[in-house]
Amino acid sequence: MTSEHVVIVADCDHKTIDIEREVLKDVCTNIPLLACRTEDEVIAQCADAEGLIIMYAPLTRRVISHLTRCRIIARYGVGVDTIDLRAAADHGIIVSNVPDYGTNEVADHALGMMLALTRKVLQANASVKSGAWDFRLMQPVYRHQEQTLGIIGIGRIGSAMARRGHGMGMKVIACDPYVPREQVPDYVTLVGLDDLMRRSDVVSVHCPLTDETRLMLDAKVLGLMKPTAYLVNTARGSIVDETVLDRMLTEKKIGGAAMDVLAVEPPRSNPLFRHDNFIVSPHMAWHSESSVKDLKRKAAEEVRRVLRGEAPLYQVNKF
Ligand SMILES: NC(=O)c1ccc[n+]([C@@H]2O[C@H](COP(=O)([O-])OP(=O)(O)OC[C@H]3O[C@@H](n4cnc5c(N)ncnc54)[C@H](O)[C@@H]3O)[C@@H](O)[C@H]2O)c1
Repeated sequence: MTSEHVVIVADCDHKTIDIEREVLKDVCTNIPLLACRTEDEVIAQCADAEGLIIMYAPLTRRVISHLTRCRIIARYGVGVDTIDLRAAADHGIIVSNVPDYGTNEVADHALGMMLALTRKVLQANASVKSGAWDFRLMQPVYRHQEQTLGIIGIGRIGSAMARRGHGMGMKVIACDPYVPREQVPDYVTLVGLDDLMRRSDVVSVHCPLTDETRLMLDAKVLGLMKPTAYLVNTARGSIVDETVLDRMLTEKKIGGAAMDVLAVEPPRSNPLFRHDNFIVSPHMAWHSESSVKDLKRKAAEEVRRVLRGEAPLYQVNKF
């Protein structure tokens, strides 16, 4: 028999946590589903948690210092940029993510965004519905087999995107200062960031948001792109300087851009939305009916492992 622990879901945008309750039933029989959005809400409502599952709730050093019984923070998702990993390690709290629940979904979404841009699908749709029937309005459109796909961050999702680009006959180049060469498919050429920005016809962003990558695509780096090239970002909004991108779209210094992620989510208003060659979706690249179930099950299984004294599978903060 296992003793009763305190597990709390601080926030999530799923309708139920039935999957989590089922997985965790032998360590916790009453798991509350809260809607904490601010630091103070997490402190007030989650201070007793031994296992904390979160989606967007901010886990700053101040919040973490109040989690005196906590053994594991499990994040629904890949990115852990909402959690102060150092502070968690200082308090002996394991932080885990779920790295592999939606890899193919995100790559599919990035590919879909790329094709919508390169094949001008949204402009064509709007043009026909407004009464025109003239493919020339969408010119220029280029042949993918003569184009280069540049991938920033060739980890799980970047590699899945590389496979798709390669399958379409595109030349694939990538920039990733940390990936071991043996993990990179042999059809991918590794280059530096500046070289990638200069050579790519489509740049697809797949690195994590870190201190190093925040605003990494700034005026200098974005300014290296060909005026016909497209930018696709399904990683994190704050990697791209949106003000610079807006200016480049206005001045036609870039072919177009597509973003599943924005610096501020949800956006109140965003000047990028006024451009016809800017496509946006509401941070949904990860989503499919199957990926949601995997995400919920894997996050709960990780909490169960730790509370039962077993080794975690997905710990991201080593200490
Ligand atoms: N839009 C969505 O729904 C969604 C869903 C899942 C993940 N994501 C984002 O996608 C990111 C990538 O996910 P993943 O599963 O491929 O992660 P991953 O850890 O497998 O791969 C990330 C790669 O980026 C590389 N990298 C780190 N710093 C870099 C830098 N400065 N320049 C270039 N490369 C760098 C790493 O070496 C690694 O190879 C996540 O961090 C997350 O923010 C978005």
